[in-house]
Amino acid sequence: MKFAFFDTKPYDKPSFDRYGKEYGVSFKYFETKLNEDTVDLAQGYDGVCAFVNDTVNAAVIQRLAELGIKVLALRCAGFNNVDMKYAFGKIHVLHVPAYSPYAVAEHTMALLLTSIRRIHKAYIRSRDFNFSLSGLTGFDLHGKTVGVIGTGRIGRVFIEICRGFGMKVLAYDKYPAKGLDNGDTVRYVTLDELLANSDIISLHCPLTEETNHIIDADAIDKCKKGVVLLNTSRGALVDAEALLTGIKSRKIGAACLDVYEEESDLFFEDNSGHILEDDTLARLISMPNVIVTSHQAFLTEEALENIAETTVKNIVGFFETNQCPNELCYRCGEAEDCKDGKCF
Ligand code: NAI
Repeated sequence: MKFAFFDTKPYDKPSFDRYGKEYGVSFKYFETKLNEDTVDLAQGYDGVCAFVNDTVNAAVIQRLAELGIKVLALRCAGFNNVDMKYAFGKIHVLHVPAYSPYAVAEHTMALLLTSIRRIHKAYIRSRDFNFSLSGLTGFDLHGKTVGVIGTGRIGRVFIEICRGFGMKVLAYDKYPAKGLDNGDTVRYVTLDELLANSDIISLHCPLTEETNHIIDADAIDKCKKGVVLLNTSRGALVDAEALLTGIKSRKIGAACLDVYEEESDLFFEDNSGHILEDDTLARLISMPNVIVTSHQAFLTEEALENIAETTVKNIVGFFETNQCPNELCYRCGEAEDCKDGKCF
C-alpha cells in the first residue's frame, strides 16, 4: 500500500518508516500541507495521511474521491479540520484516538508552572547573569482551584496531576465521566460555576460548533480576576481578541497557549525571518504573562511511536477487513461509540 503523507516533519519519518516497513505500507513524504492546491499530489496513492493543520474541506474531499482515494488516515486525535459531514459516503476517515494523554497533560502543567513561577523570565535573566528576583514572585498551586473543561483522556490525566499538587478541581463536561466526582476535591459543576470559581482554567474538550469560542468575552467576564487560562486543546476554543482584551484589562492574570485559532499557516514552521501578519498573535506573544508554544504538547517520543503504530495498524486493518475500530463517523463523532457499527 502506498500512502501520500502530507505536512511531513523530520520527527515523523523514523517511526512511520519503521512501522510502515513492518506492516507493508510505504509513505511518500510531502512537506507541503494538504489543501485544494496540493491535493493532486495524492494521485496514484491508495490513501492519504494528514495532520492537524491540513485542510480537508469539501473541495479537498471531493477531489480525493475523484482521484479514487478511499482512506484518509489522520495521524492525530482531533478531526475539526475535516468536513466530516461531506466525507460521509465518500472517504473513510481513520484517526488515532489516544496516543499519549500524558504528553499533553504534562505539557499543560509544564506551561502552568513556567508561567506562575516565571521560569521563562528567570531562564533569560540568568543567561545574562542577572540574578535579581524582582518581579519573579509566583503563587502556590497547593489549595488553588483548577477548572477543567473536558474530562476525557487528557482532562482526566491533567486532573490527576493537579490533585498531586493539592489542588481542588471543578470539572465541566457535556458527558461527565462516571466515578470522577468524589463530592469533595473533584466536583462536576456547571460551566458558569467553573468560570466563577476557578483560579486556573484548562481546556481539554474537542473543537466543535458547540465549543467554538467557549471562552469568549462573556465567559471571561464571568471569571475570577487574575484567572490563568490554559489551552492545549484547539485554538478556536478561545476567542483570541477577547483573550487579548482580557489580558489588557488585567482580568486575565496569565495565559498559556499551545494552540491558536489562526495557527495553521504559522505553527510548526520557522517564521523567524518573516514579518508576522497576525497582529493579535504578535500582541499576545509580546505580553509578559502569555506563553505560547507551537502545538507542541503531543511531541514526546512515546506519543510519536504510538501515533505511527496506530496509524499504520489502522491502514492495514482497514484494507484487510474494510473496517477499522478507529474510523470516525460524522453522525456520532466517534467510531468507538458508533451507533451504526460502520460509517457507510
Ligand atoms: P477525549 O475525547 O478523550 O475527551 C474530550 C472530552 O470533551 C470528552 O469527555 C467529551 O465528553 C468532552 N466534550 C465534548 N463536547 C463537549 C462540550 N461541548 N463541552 C464540554 N465538554 C465536551 O479527547 P482527549 O484525548 O482528551 O483530547 C482532548 C482534545 O485535546 C482533543 O479534542 C484535541 O483537540 C486536543 N489535543 C491537543 C493536542 C496537542 O498537541 N496540543 C494533542 C492531542 C489532543
